[in-house]
Amino acid sequence: MRTSPSTSTTWLLIGVLTAGSSSAFIQQQHHRRQLPVDFNWTSIIPSQDLQYHACYDSYKCARLQVPLDWAKAAAAPSSFPASGGSNASSSNSWAAIAIITLPATVPNTDPSFGGTVLINPGGPGGSGTGMALDSGVYLRGILDSEDRHYEILGFDPRGMALSTPSAECYSDSEGVNRLADAVQQGGMPPVTAGNVSLNLHFAAAKGGSSVCAEHEAAAGSDSIFSHMSTASVARDMLEIVERADALRSSGSGRNQTKPARLQYLGVSYGTFLGNTFASMFPDRVERMVLDGVVDAGDFLSGRLSKNLNDAELVVDRFYQTCFQAGTSACPLRQEADTSAVDIRSRVDAYIHSLEIEPLSAVFNGRARLVTSLVVRQAIRVTLYTPICSYANLAAALASSIFAGNHTLLLSGGNFCQPPPLSHTEVGSYAWAGEAAMGVFCGDSAAEAGDRDNVSFTADIVSFLTEQSPTTGEPWLRFPASCSGWSFKPPYTFRGPFGSAVGNSSSSSSSPMLILSNRHDHATPLANAYALSQVHGGSAVVVQESFGHSALLTATSNCTAGIVREYFKSGTLPANGTVCEQNSDCEPAIPFKACPGFSEFGL
Ligand SMILES: *[C@@H]1O[C@H](CO)[C@@H](O)[C@H](O)[C@H]1NC(C)=O
Ligand SMILES: *[C@@H]1O[C@H](CO)[C@@H](O)[C@H](O)[C@H]1NC(C)=O
Ligand SMILES: *[C@@H]1O[C@H](CO)[C@@H](O)[C@H](O)[C@H]1NC(C)=O
Ligand SMILES: *[C@@H]1O[C@H](CO)[C@@H](O)[C@H](O)[C@H]1NC(C)=O
Ligand SMILES: *[C@@H]1O[C@H](CO)[C@@H](O)[C@H](O)[C@H]1NC(C)=O
Ligand SMILES: *[C@@H]1O[C@H](CO)[C@@H](O)[C@H](O)[C@H]1NC(C)=O
Ligand SMILES: *[C@@H]1O[C@H](CO)[C@@H](O)[C@H](O)[C@H]1NC(C)=O
Ligand SMILES: *[C@@H]1O[C@H](CO)[C@@H](O)[C@H](O)[C@H]1NC(C)=O
Ligand SMILES: *[C@@H]1O[C@H](CO)[C@@H](O)[C@H](O)[C@H]1NC(C)=O
Repeated sequence: MRTSPSTSTTWLLIGVLTAGSSSAFIQQQHHRRQLPVDFNWTSIIPSQDLQYHACYDSYKCARLQVPLDWAKAAAAPSSFPASGGSNASSSNSWAAIAIITLPATVPNTDPSFGGTVLINPGGPGGSGTGMALDSGVYLRGILDSEDRHYEILGFDPRGMALSTPSAECYSDSEGVNRLADAVQQGGMPPVTAGNVSLNLHFAAAKGGSSVCAEHEAAAGSDSIFSHMSTASVARDMLEIVERADALRSSGSGRNQTKPARLQYLGVSYGTFLGNTFASMFPDRVERMVLDGVVDAGDFLSGRLSKNLNDAELVVDRFYQTCFQAGTSACPLRQEADTSAVDIRSRVDAYIHSLEIEPLSAVFNGRARLVTSLVVRQAIRVTLYTPICSYANLAAALASSIFAGNHTLLLSGGNFCQPPPLSHTEVGSYAWAGEAAMGVFCGDSAAEAGDRDNVSFTADIVSFLTEQSPTTGEPWLRFPASCSGWSFKPPYTFRGPFGSAVGNSSSSSSSPMLILSNRHDHATPLANAYALSQVHGGSAVVVQESFGHSALLTATSNCTAGIVREYFKSGTLPANGTVCEQNSDCEPAIPFKACPGFSEFGL
């Protein structure tokens, strides 16, 4: 994922997200990329057919041109030719979707070639091209079987990362203004501290929305922020699928005999994207694996009230791991502690004391505040990546609480974050937070009600901090950031969600495979069951692990085997099948490396 040039401070970024800003909100990235070369995206001229260029050693890169406004394109198809529009890139009415594809291990003409699998890492705001680079080989290894080999296609949803135009709200290239606004908000009292504080946060969020509106004023209805709905991204995916199929047909000299279908693996927000696609285009799904499920209706409501249901269970798991590690291994555990509850009480008391009496520390030459939000955010972000983060979180909390040394805590919430990768070419922006607002605030614009009224924020604050006392405070900043949001996408899909995929006997499509951790602090298991209810024939697999999503937080040969078989034959396990995680891959203090997981750089 693209990281911001100012990683040490970005995790206090404005009313929006989260650590590193590279990470999207619901999904926290933790992949480490090591690229021998960078690639000049400007040298690719966007095209309406899929034209690949060799890039990043073994990958293929493309920029696919799609109509900015699919509603307009549907109304006037002649002005949006299906292919070959040579000069259309000069028009504001197009977007260019960045695509990075990891080729299959066999040629496309090989009988064992299994086709293209699109992936999405979540967010919203996450980069699919980054995921292809970071995890493509790992995921391909899970999907591939002896007689089936896939290519993995990552794309940056419109507005994000390397796709153009970029969703961003600030013009100054150094990001000084963005940082200044973030600092202003980072210094405000806790949003729970009373009406003055609540009103301050509300005003700051509205200000953030106004910055976006002013930045985009010249673009008018062609602003990318008006066209980032999840429905638009789903429609883009259909376009990618068709163009990839056309490319293969032209290569093989055969004609397309049936409509191309999607094969897809989506994580976190990527499950909402997949659900949207399957509900909009039910007869265009070949295979779909959704992992770490976002509730569609709740997302569209703008409240995100069905995410933190199990968060405190996952918090407890961290304290239990520390307690079991003992005083010599876990610096957060004290001799007198008789259970994990004692450790938790100590940290909770510290957080509460910071609500009243914040501290400060010199960090990287600046005076930084140590607030309840800083600690809660560090914990929240760490829960995404238990295997590589637990030991570091324990060290950071212990150092802050017992030694008054806040360096580790302030160095960023996601302790797995790779060092920033520099990009000088097109799309080098790193503001996943603004992209996330573009998607989420736009998707929910129709149903959220009056977000210009502070009572909306007040409701969110009281609900989410009660639902999860530890992670609610940082989490609520996301839905609260939509106050004053002015963009309303014309191309939307608001249900009904559901499908009867695979009901036709002539179809080779398969019902959806749904994965979830047993205890997921960002997308609870209940969401997976609810999704299964509306997609006919689907099955839920429960993985006995903690964190967010099954495939990206732990290894499980059981889960991997089910996914592999599903892609190969379309066969689903019994609904409710339970998979253990591999016993050699458990979160531990001190850190214990996880065999087979090295592609993530853990
Ligand atoms: C990238 O490609 C563009 C277009 O070909 C070119 O103008 C630019 O100089 C290149 N940038 C770098 C850093 O090579
Ligand atoms: C493409 O070029 C033609 C001829 O120069 C022009 O008439 C047309 O408006 C252009 N189309 C777009 C979408 O820019
Ligand atoms: C805070 O604002 C709410 C809603 O306007 C009001 O009902 C309440 O009395 C206020 N509380 C204080 C302490 O002023
Ligand atoms: C493919 O379709 C085109 C147009 O329908 C036709 O002219 C051509 O003969 C077909 N090619 C094959 C290999 O069937
Ligand atoms: C504070 O902690 C950091 C990171 O562990 C360490 O490098 C530094 O020396 C500590 N500072 C003091 C004053 O002990
Ligand atoms: C804000 O919402 C509250 C509760 O729904 C309502 O009583 C109040 O009149 C609203 N204020 C404005 C300015 O619309
Ligand atoms: C199967 O699809 C047909 C045609 O789309 C539809 O009429 C029928 O209700 C579906 N059957 C089930 C069981 O969903
Ligand atoms: C799968 O099981 C869950 C939990 O029992 C249930 O809610 C869901 O409807 C089932 N899915 C299907 C397709 O029957
Ligand atoms: C998982 O599968 C790998 C590769 O087949 C094997 O080496 C490893 O022993 C398996 N691990 C467990 C816990 O079964």
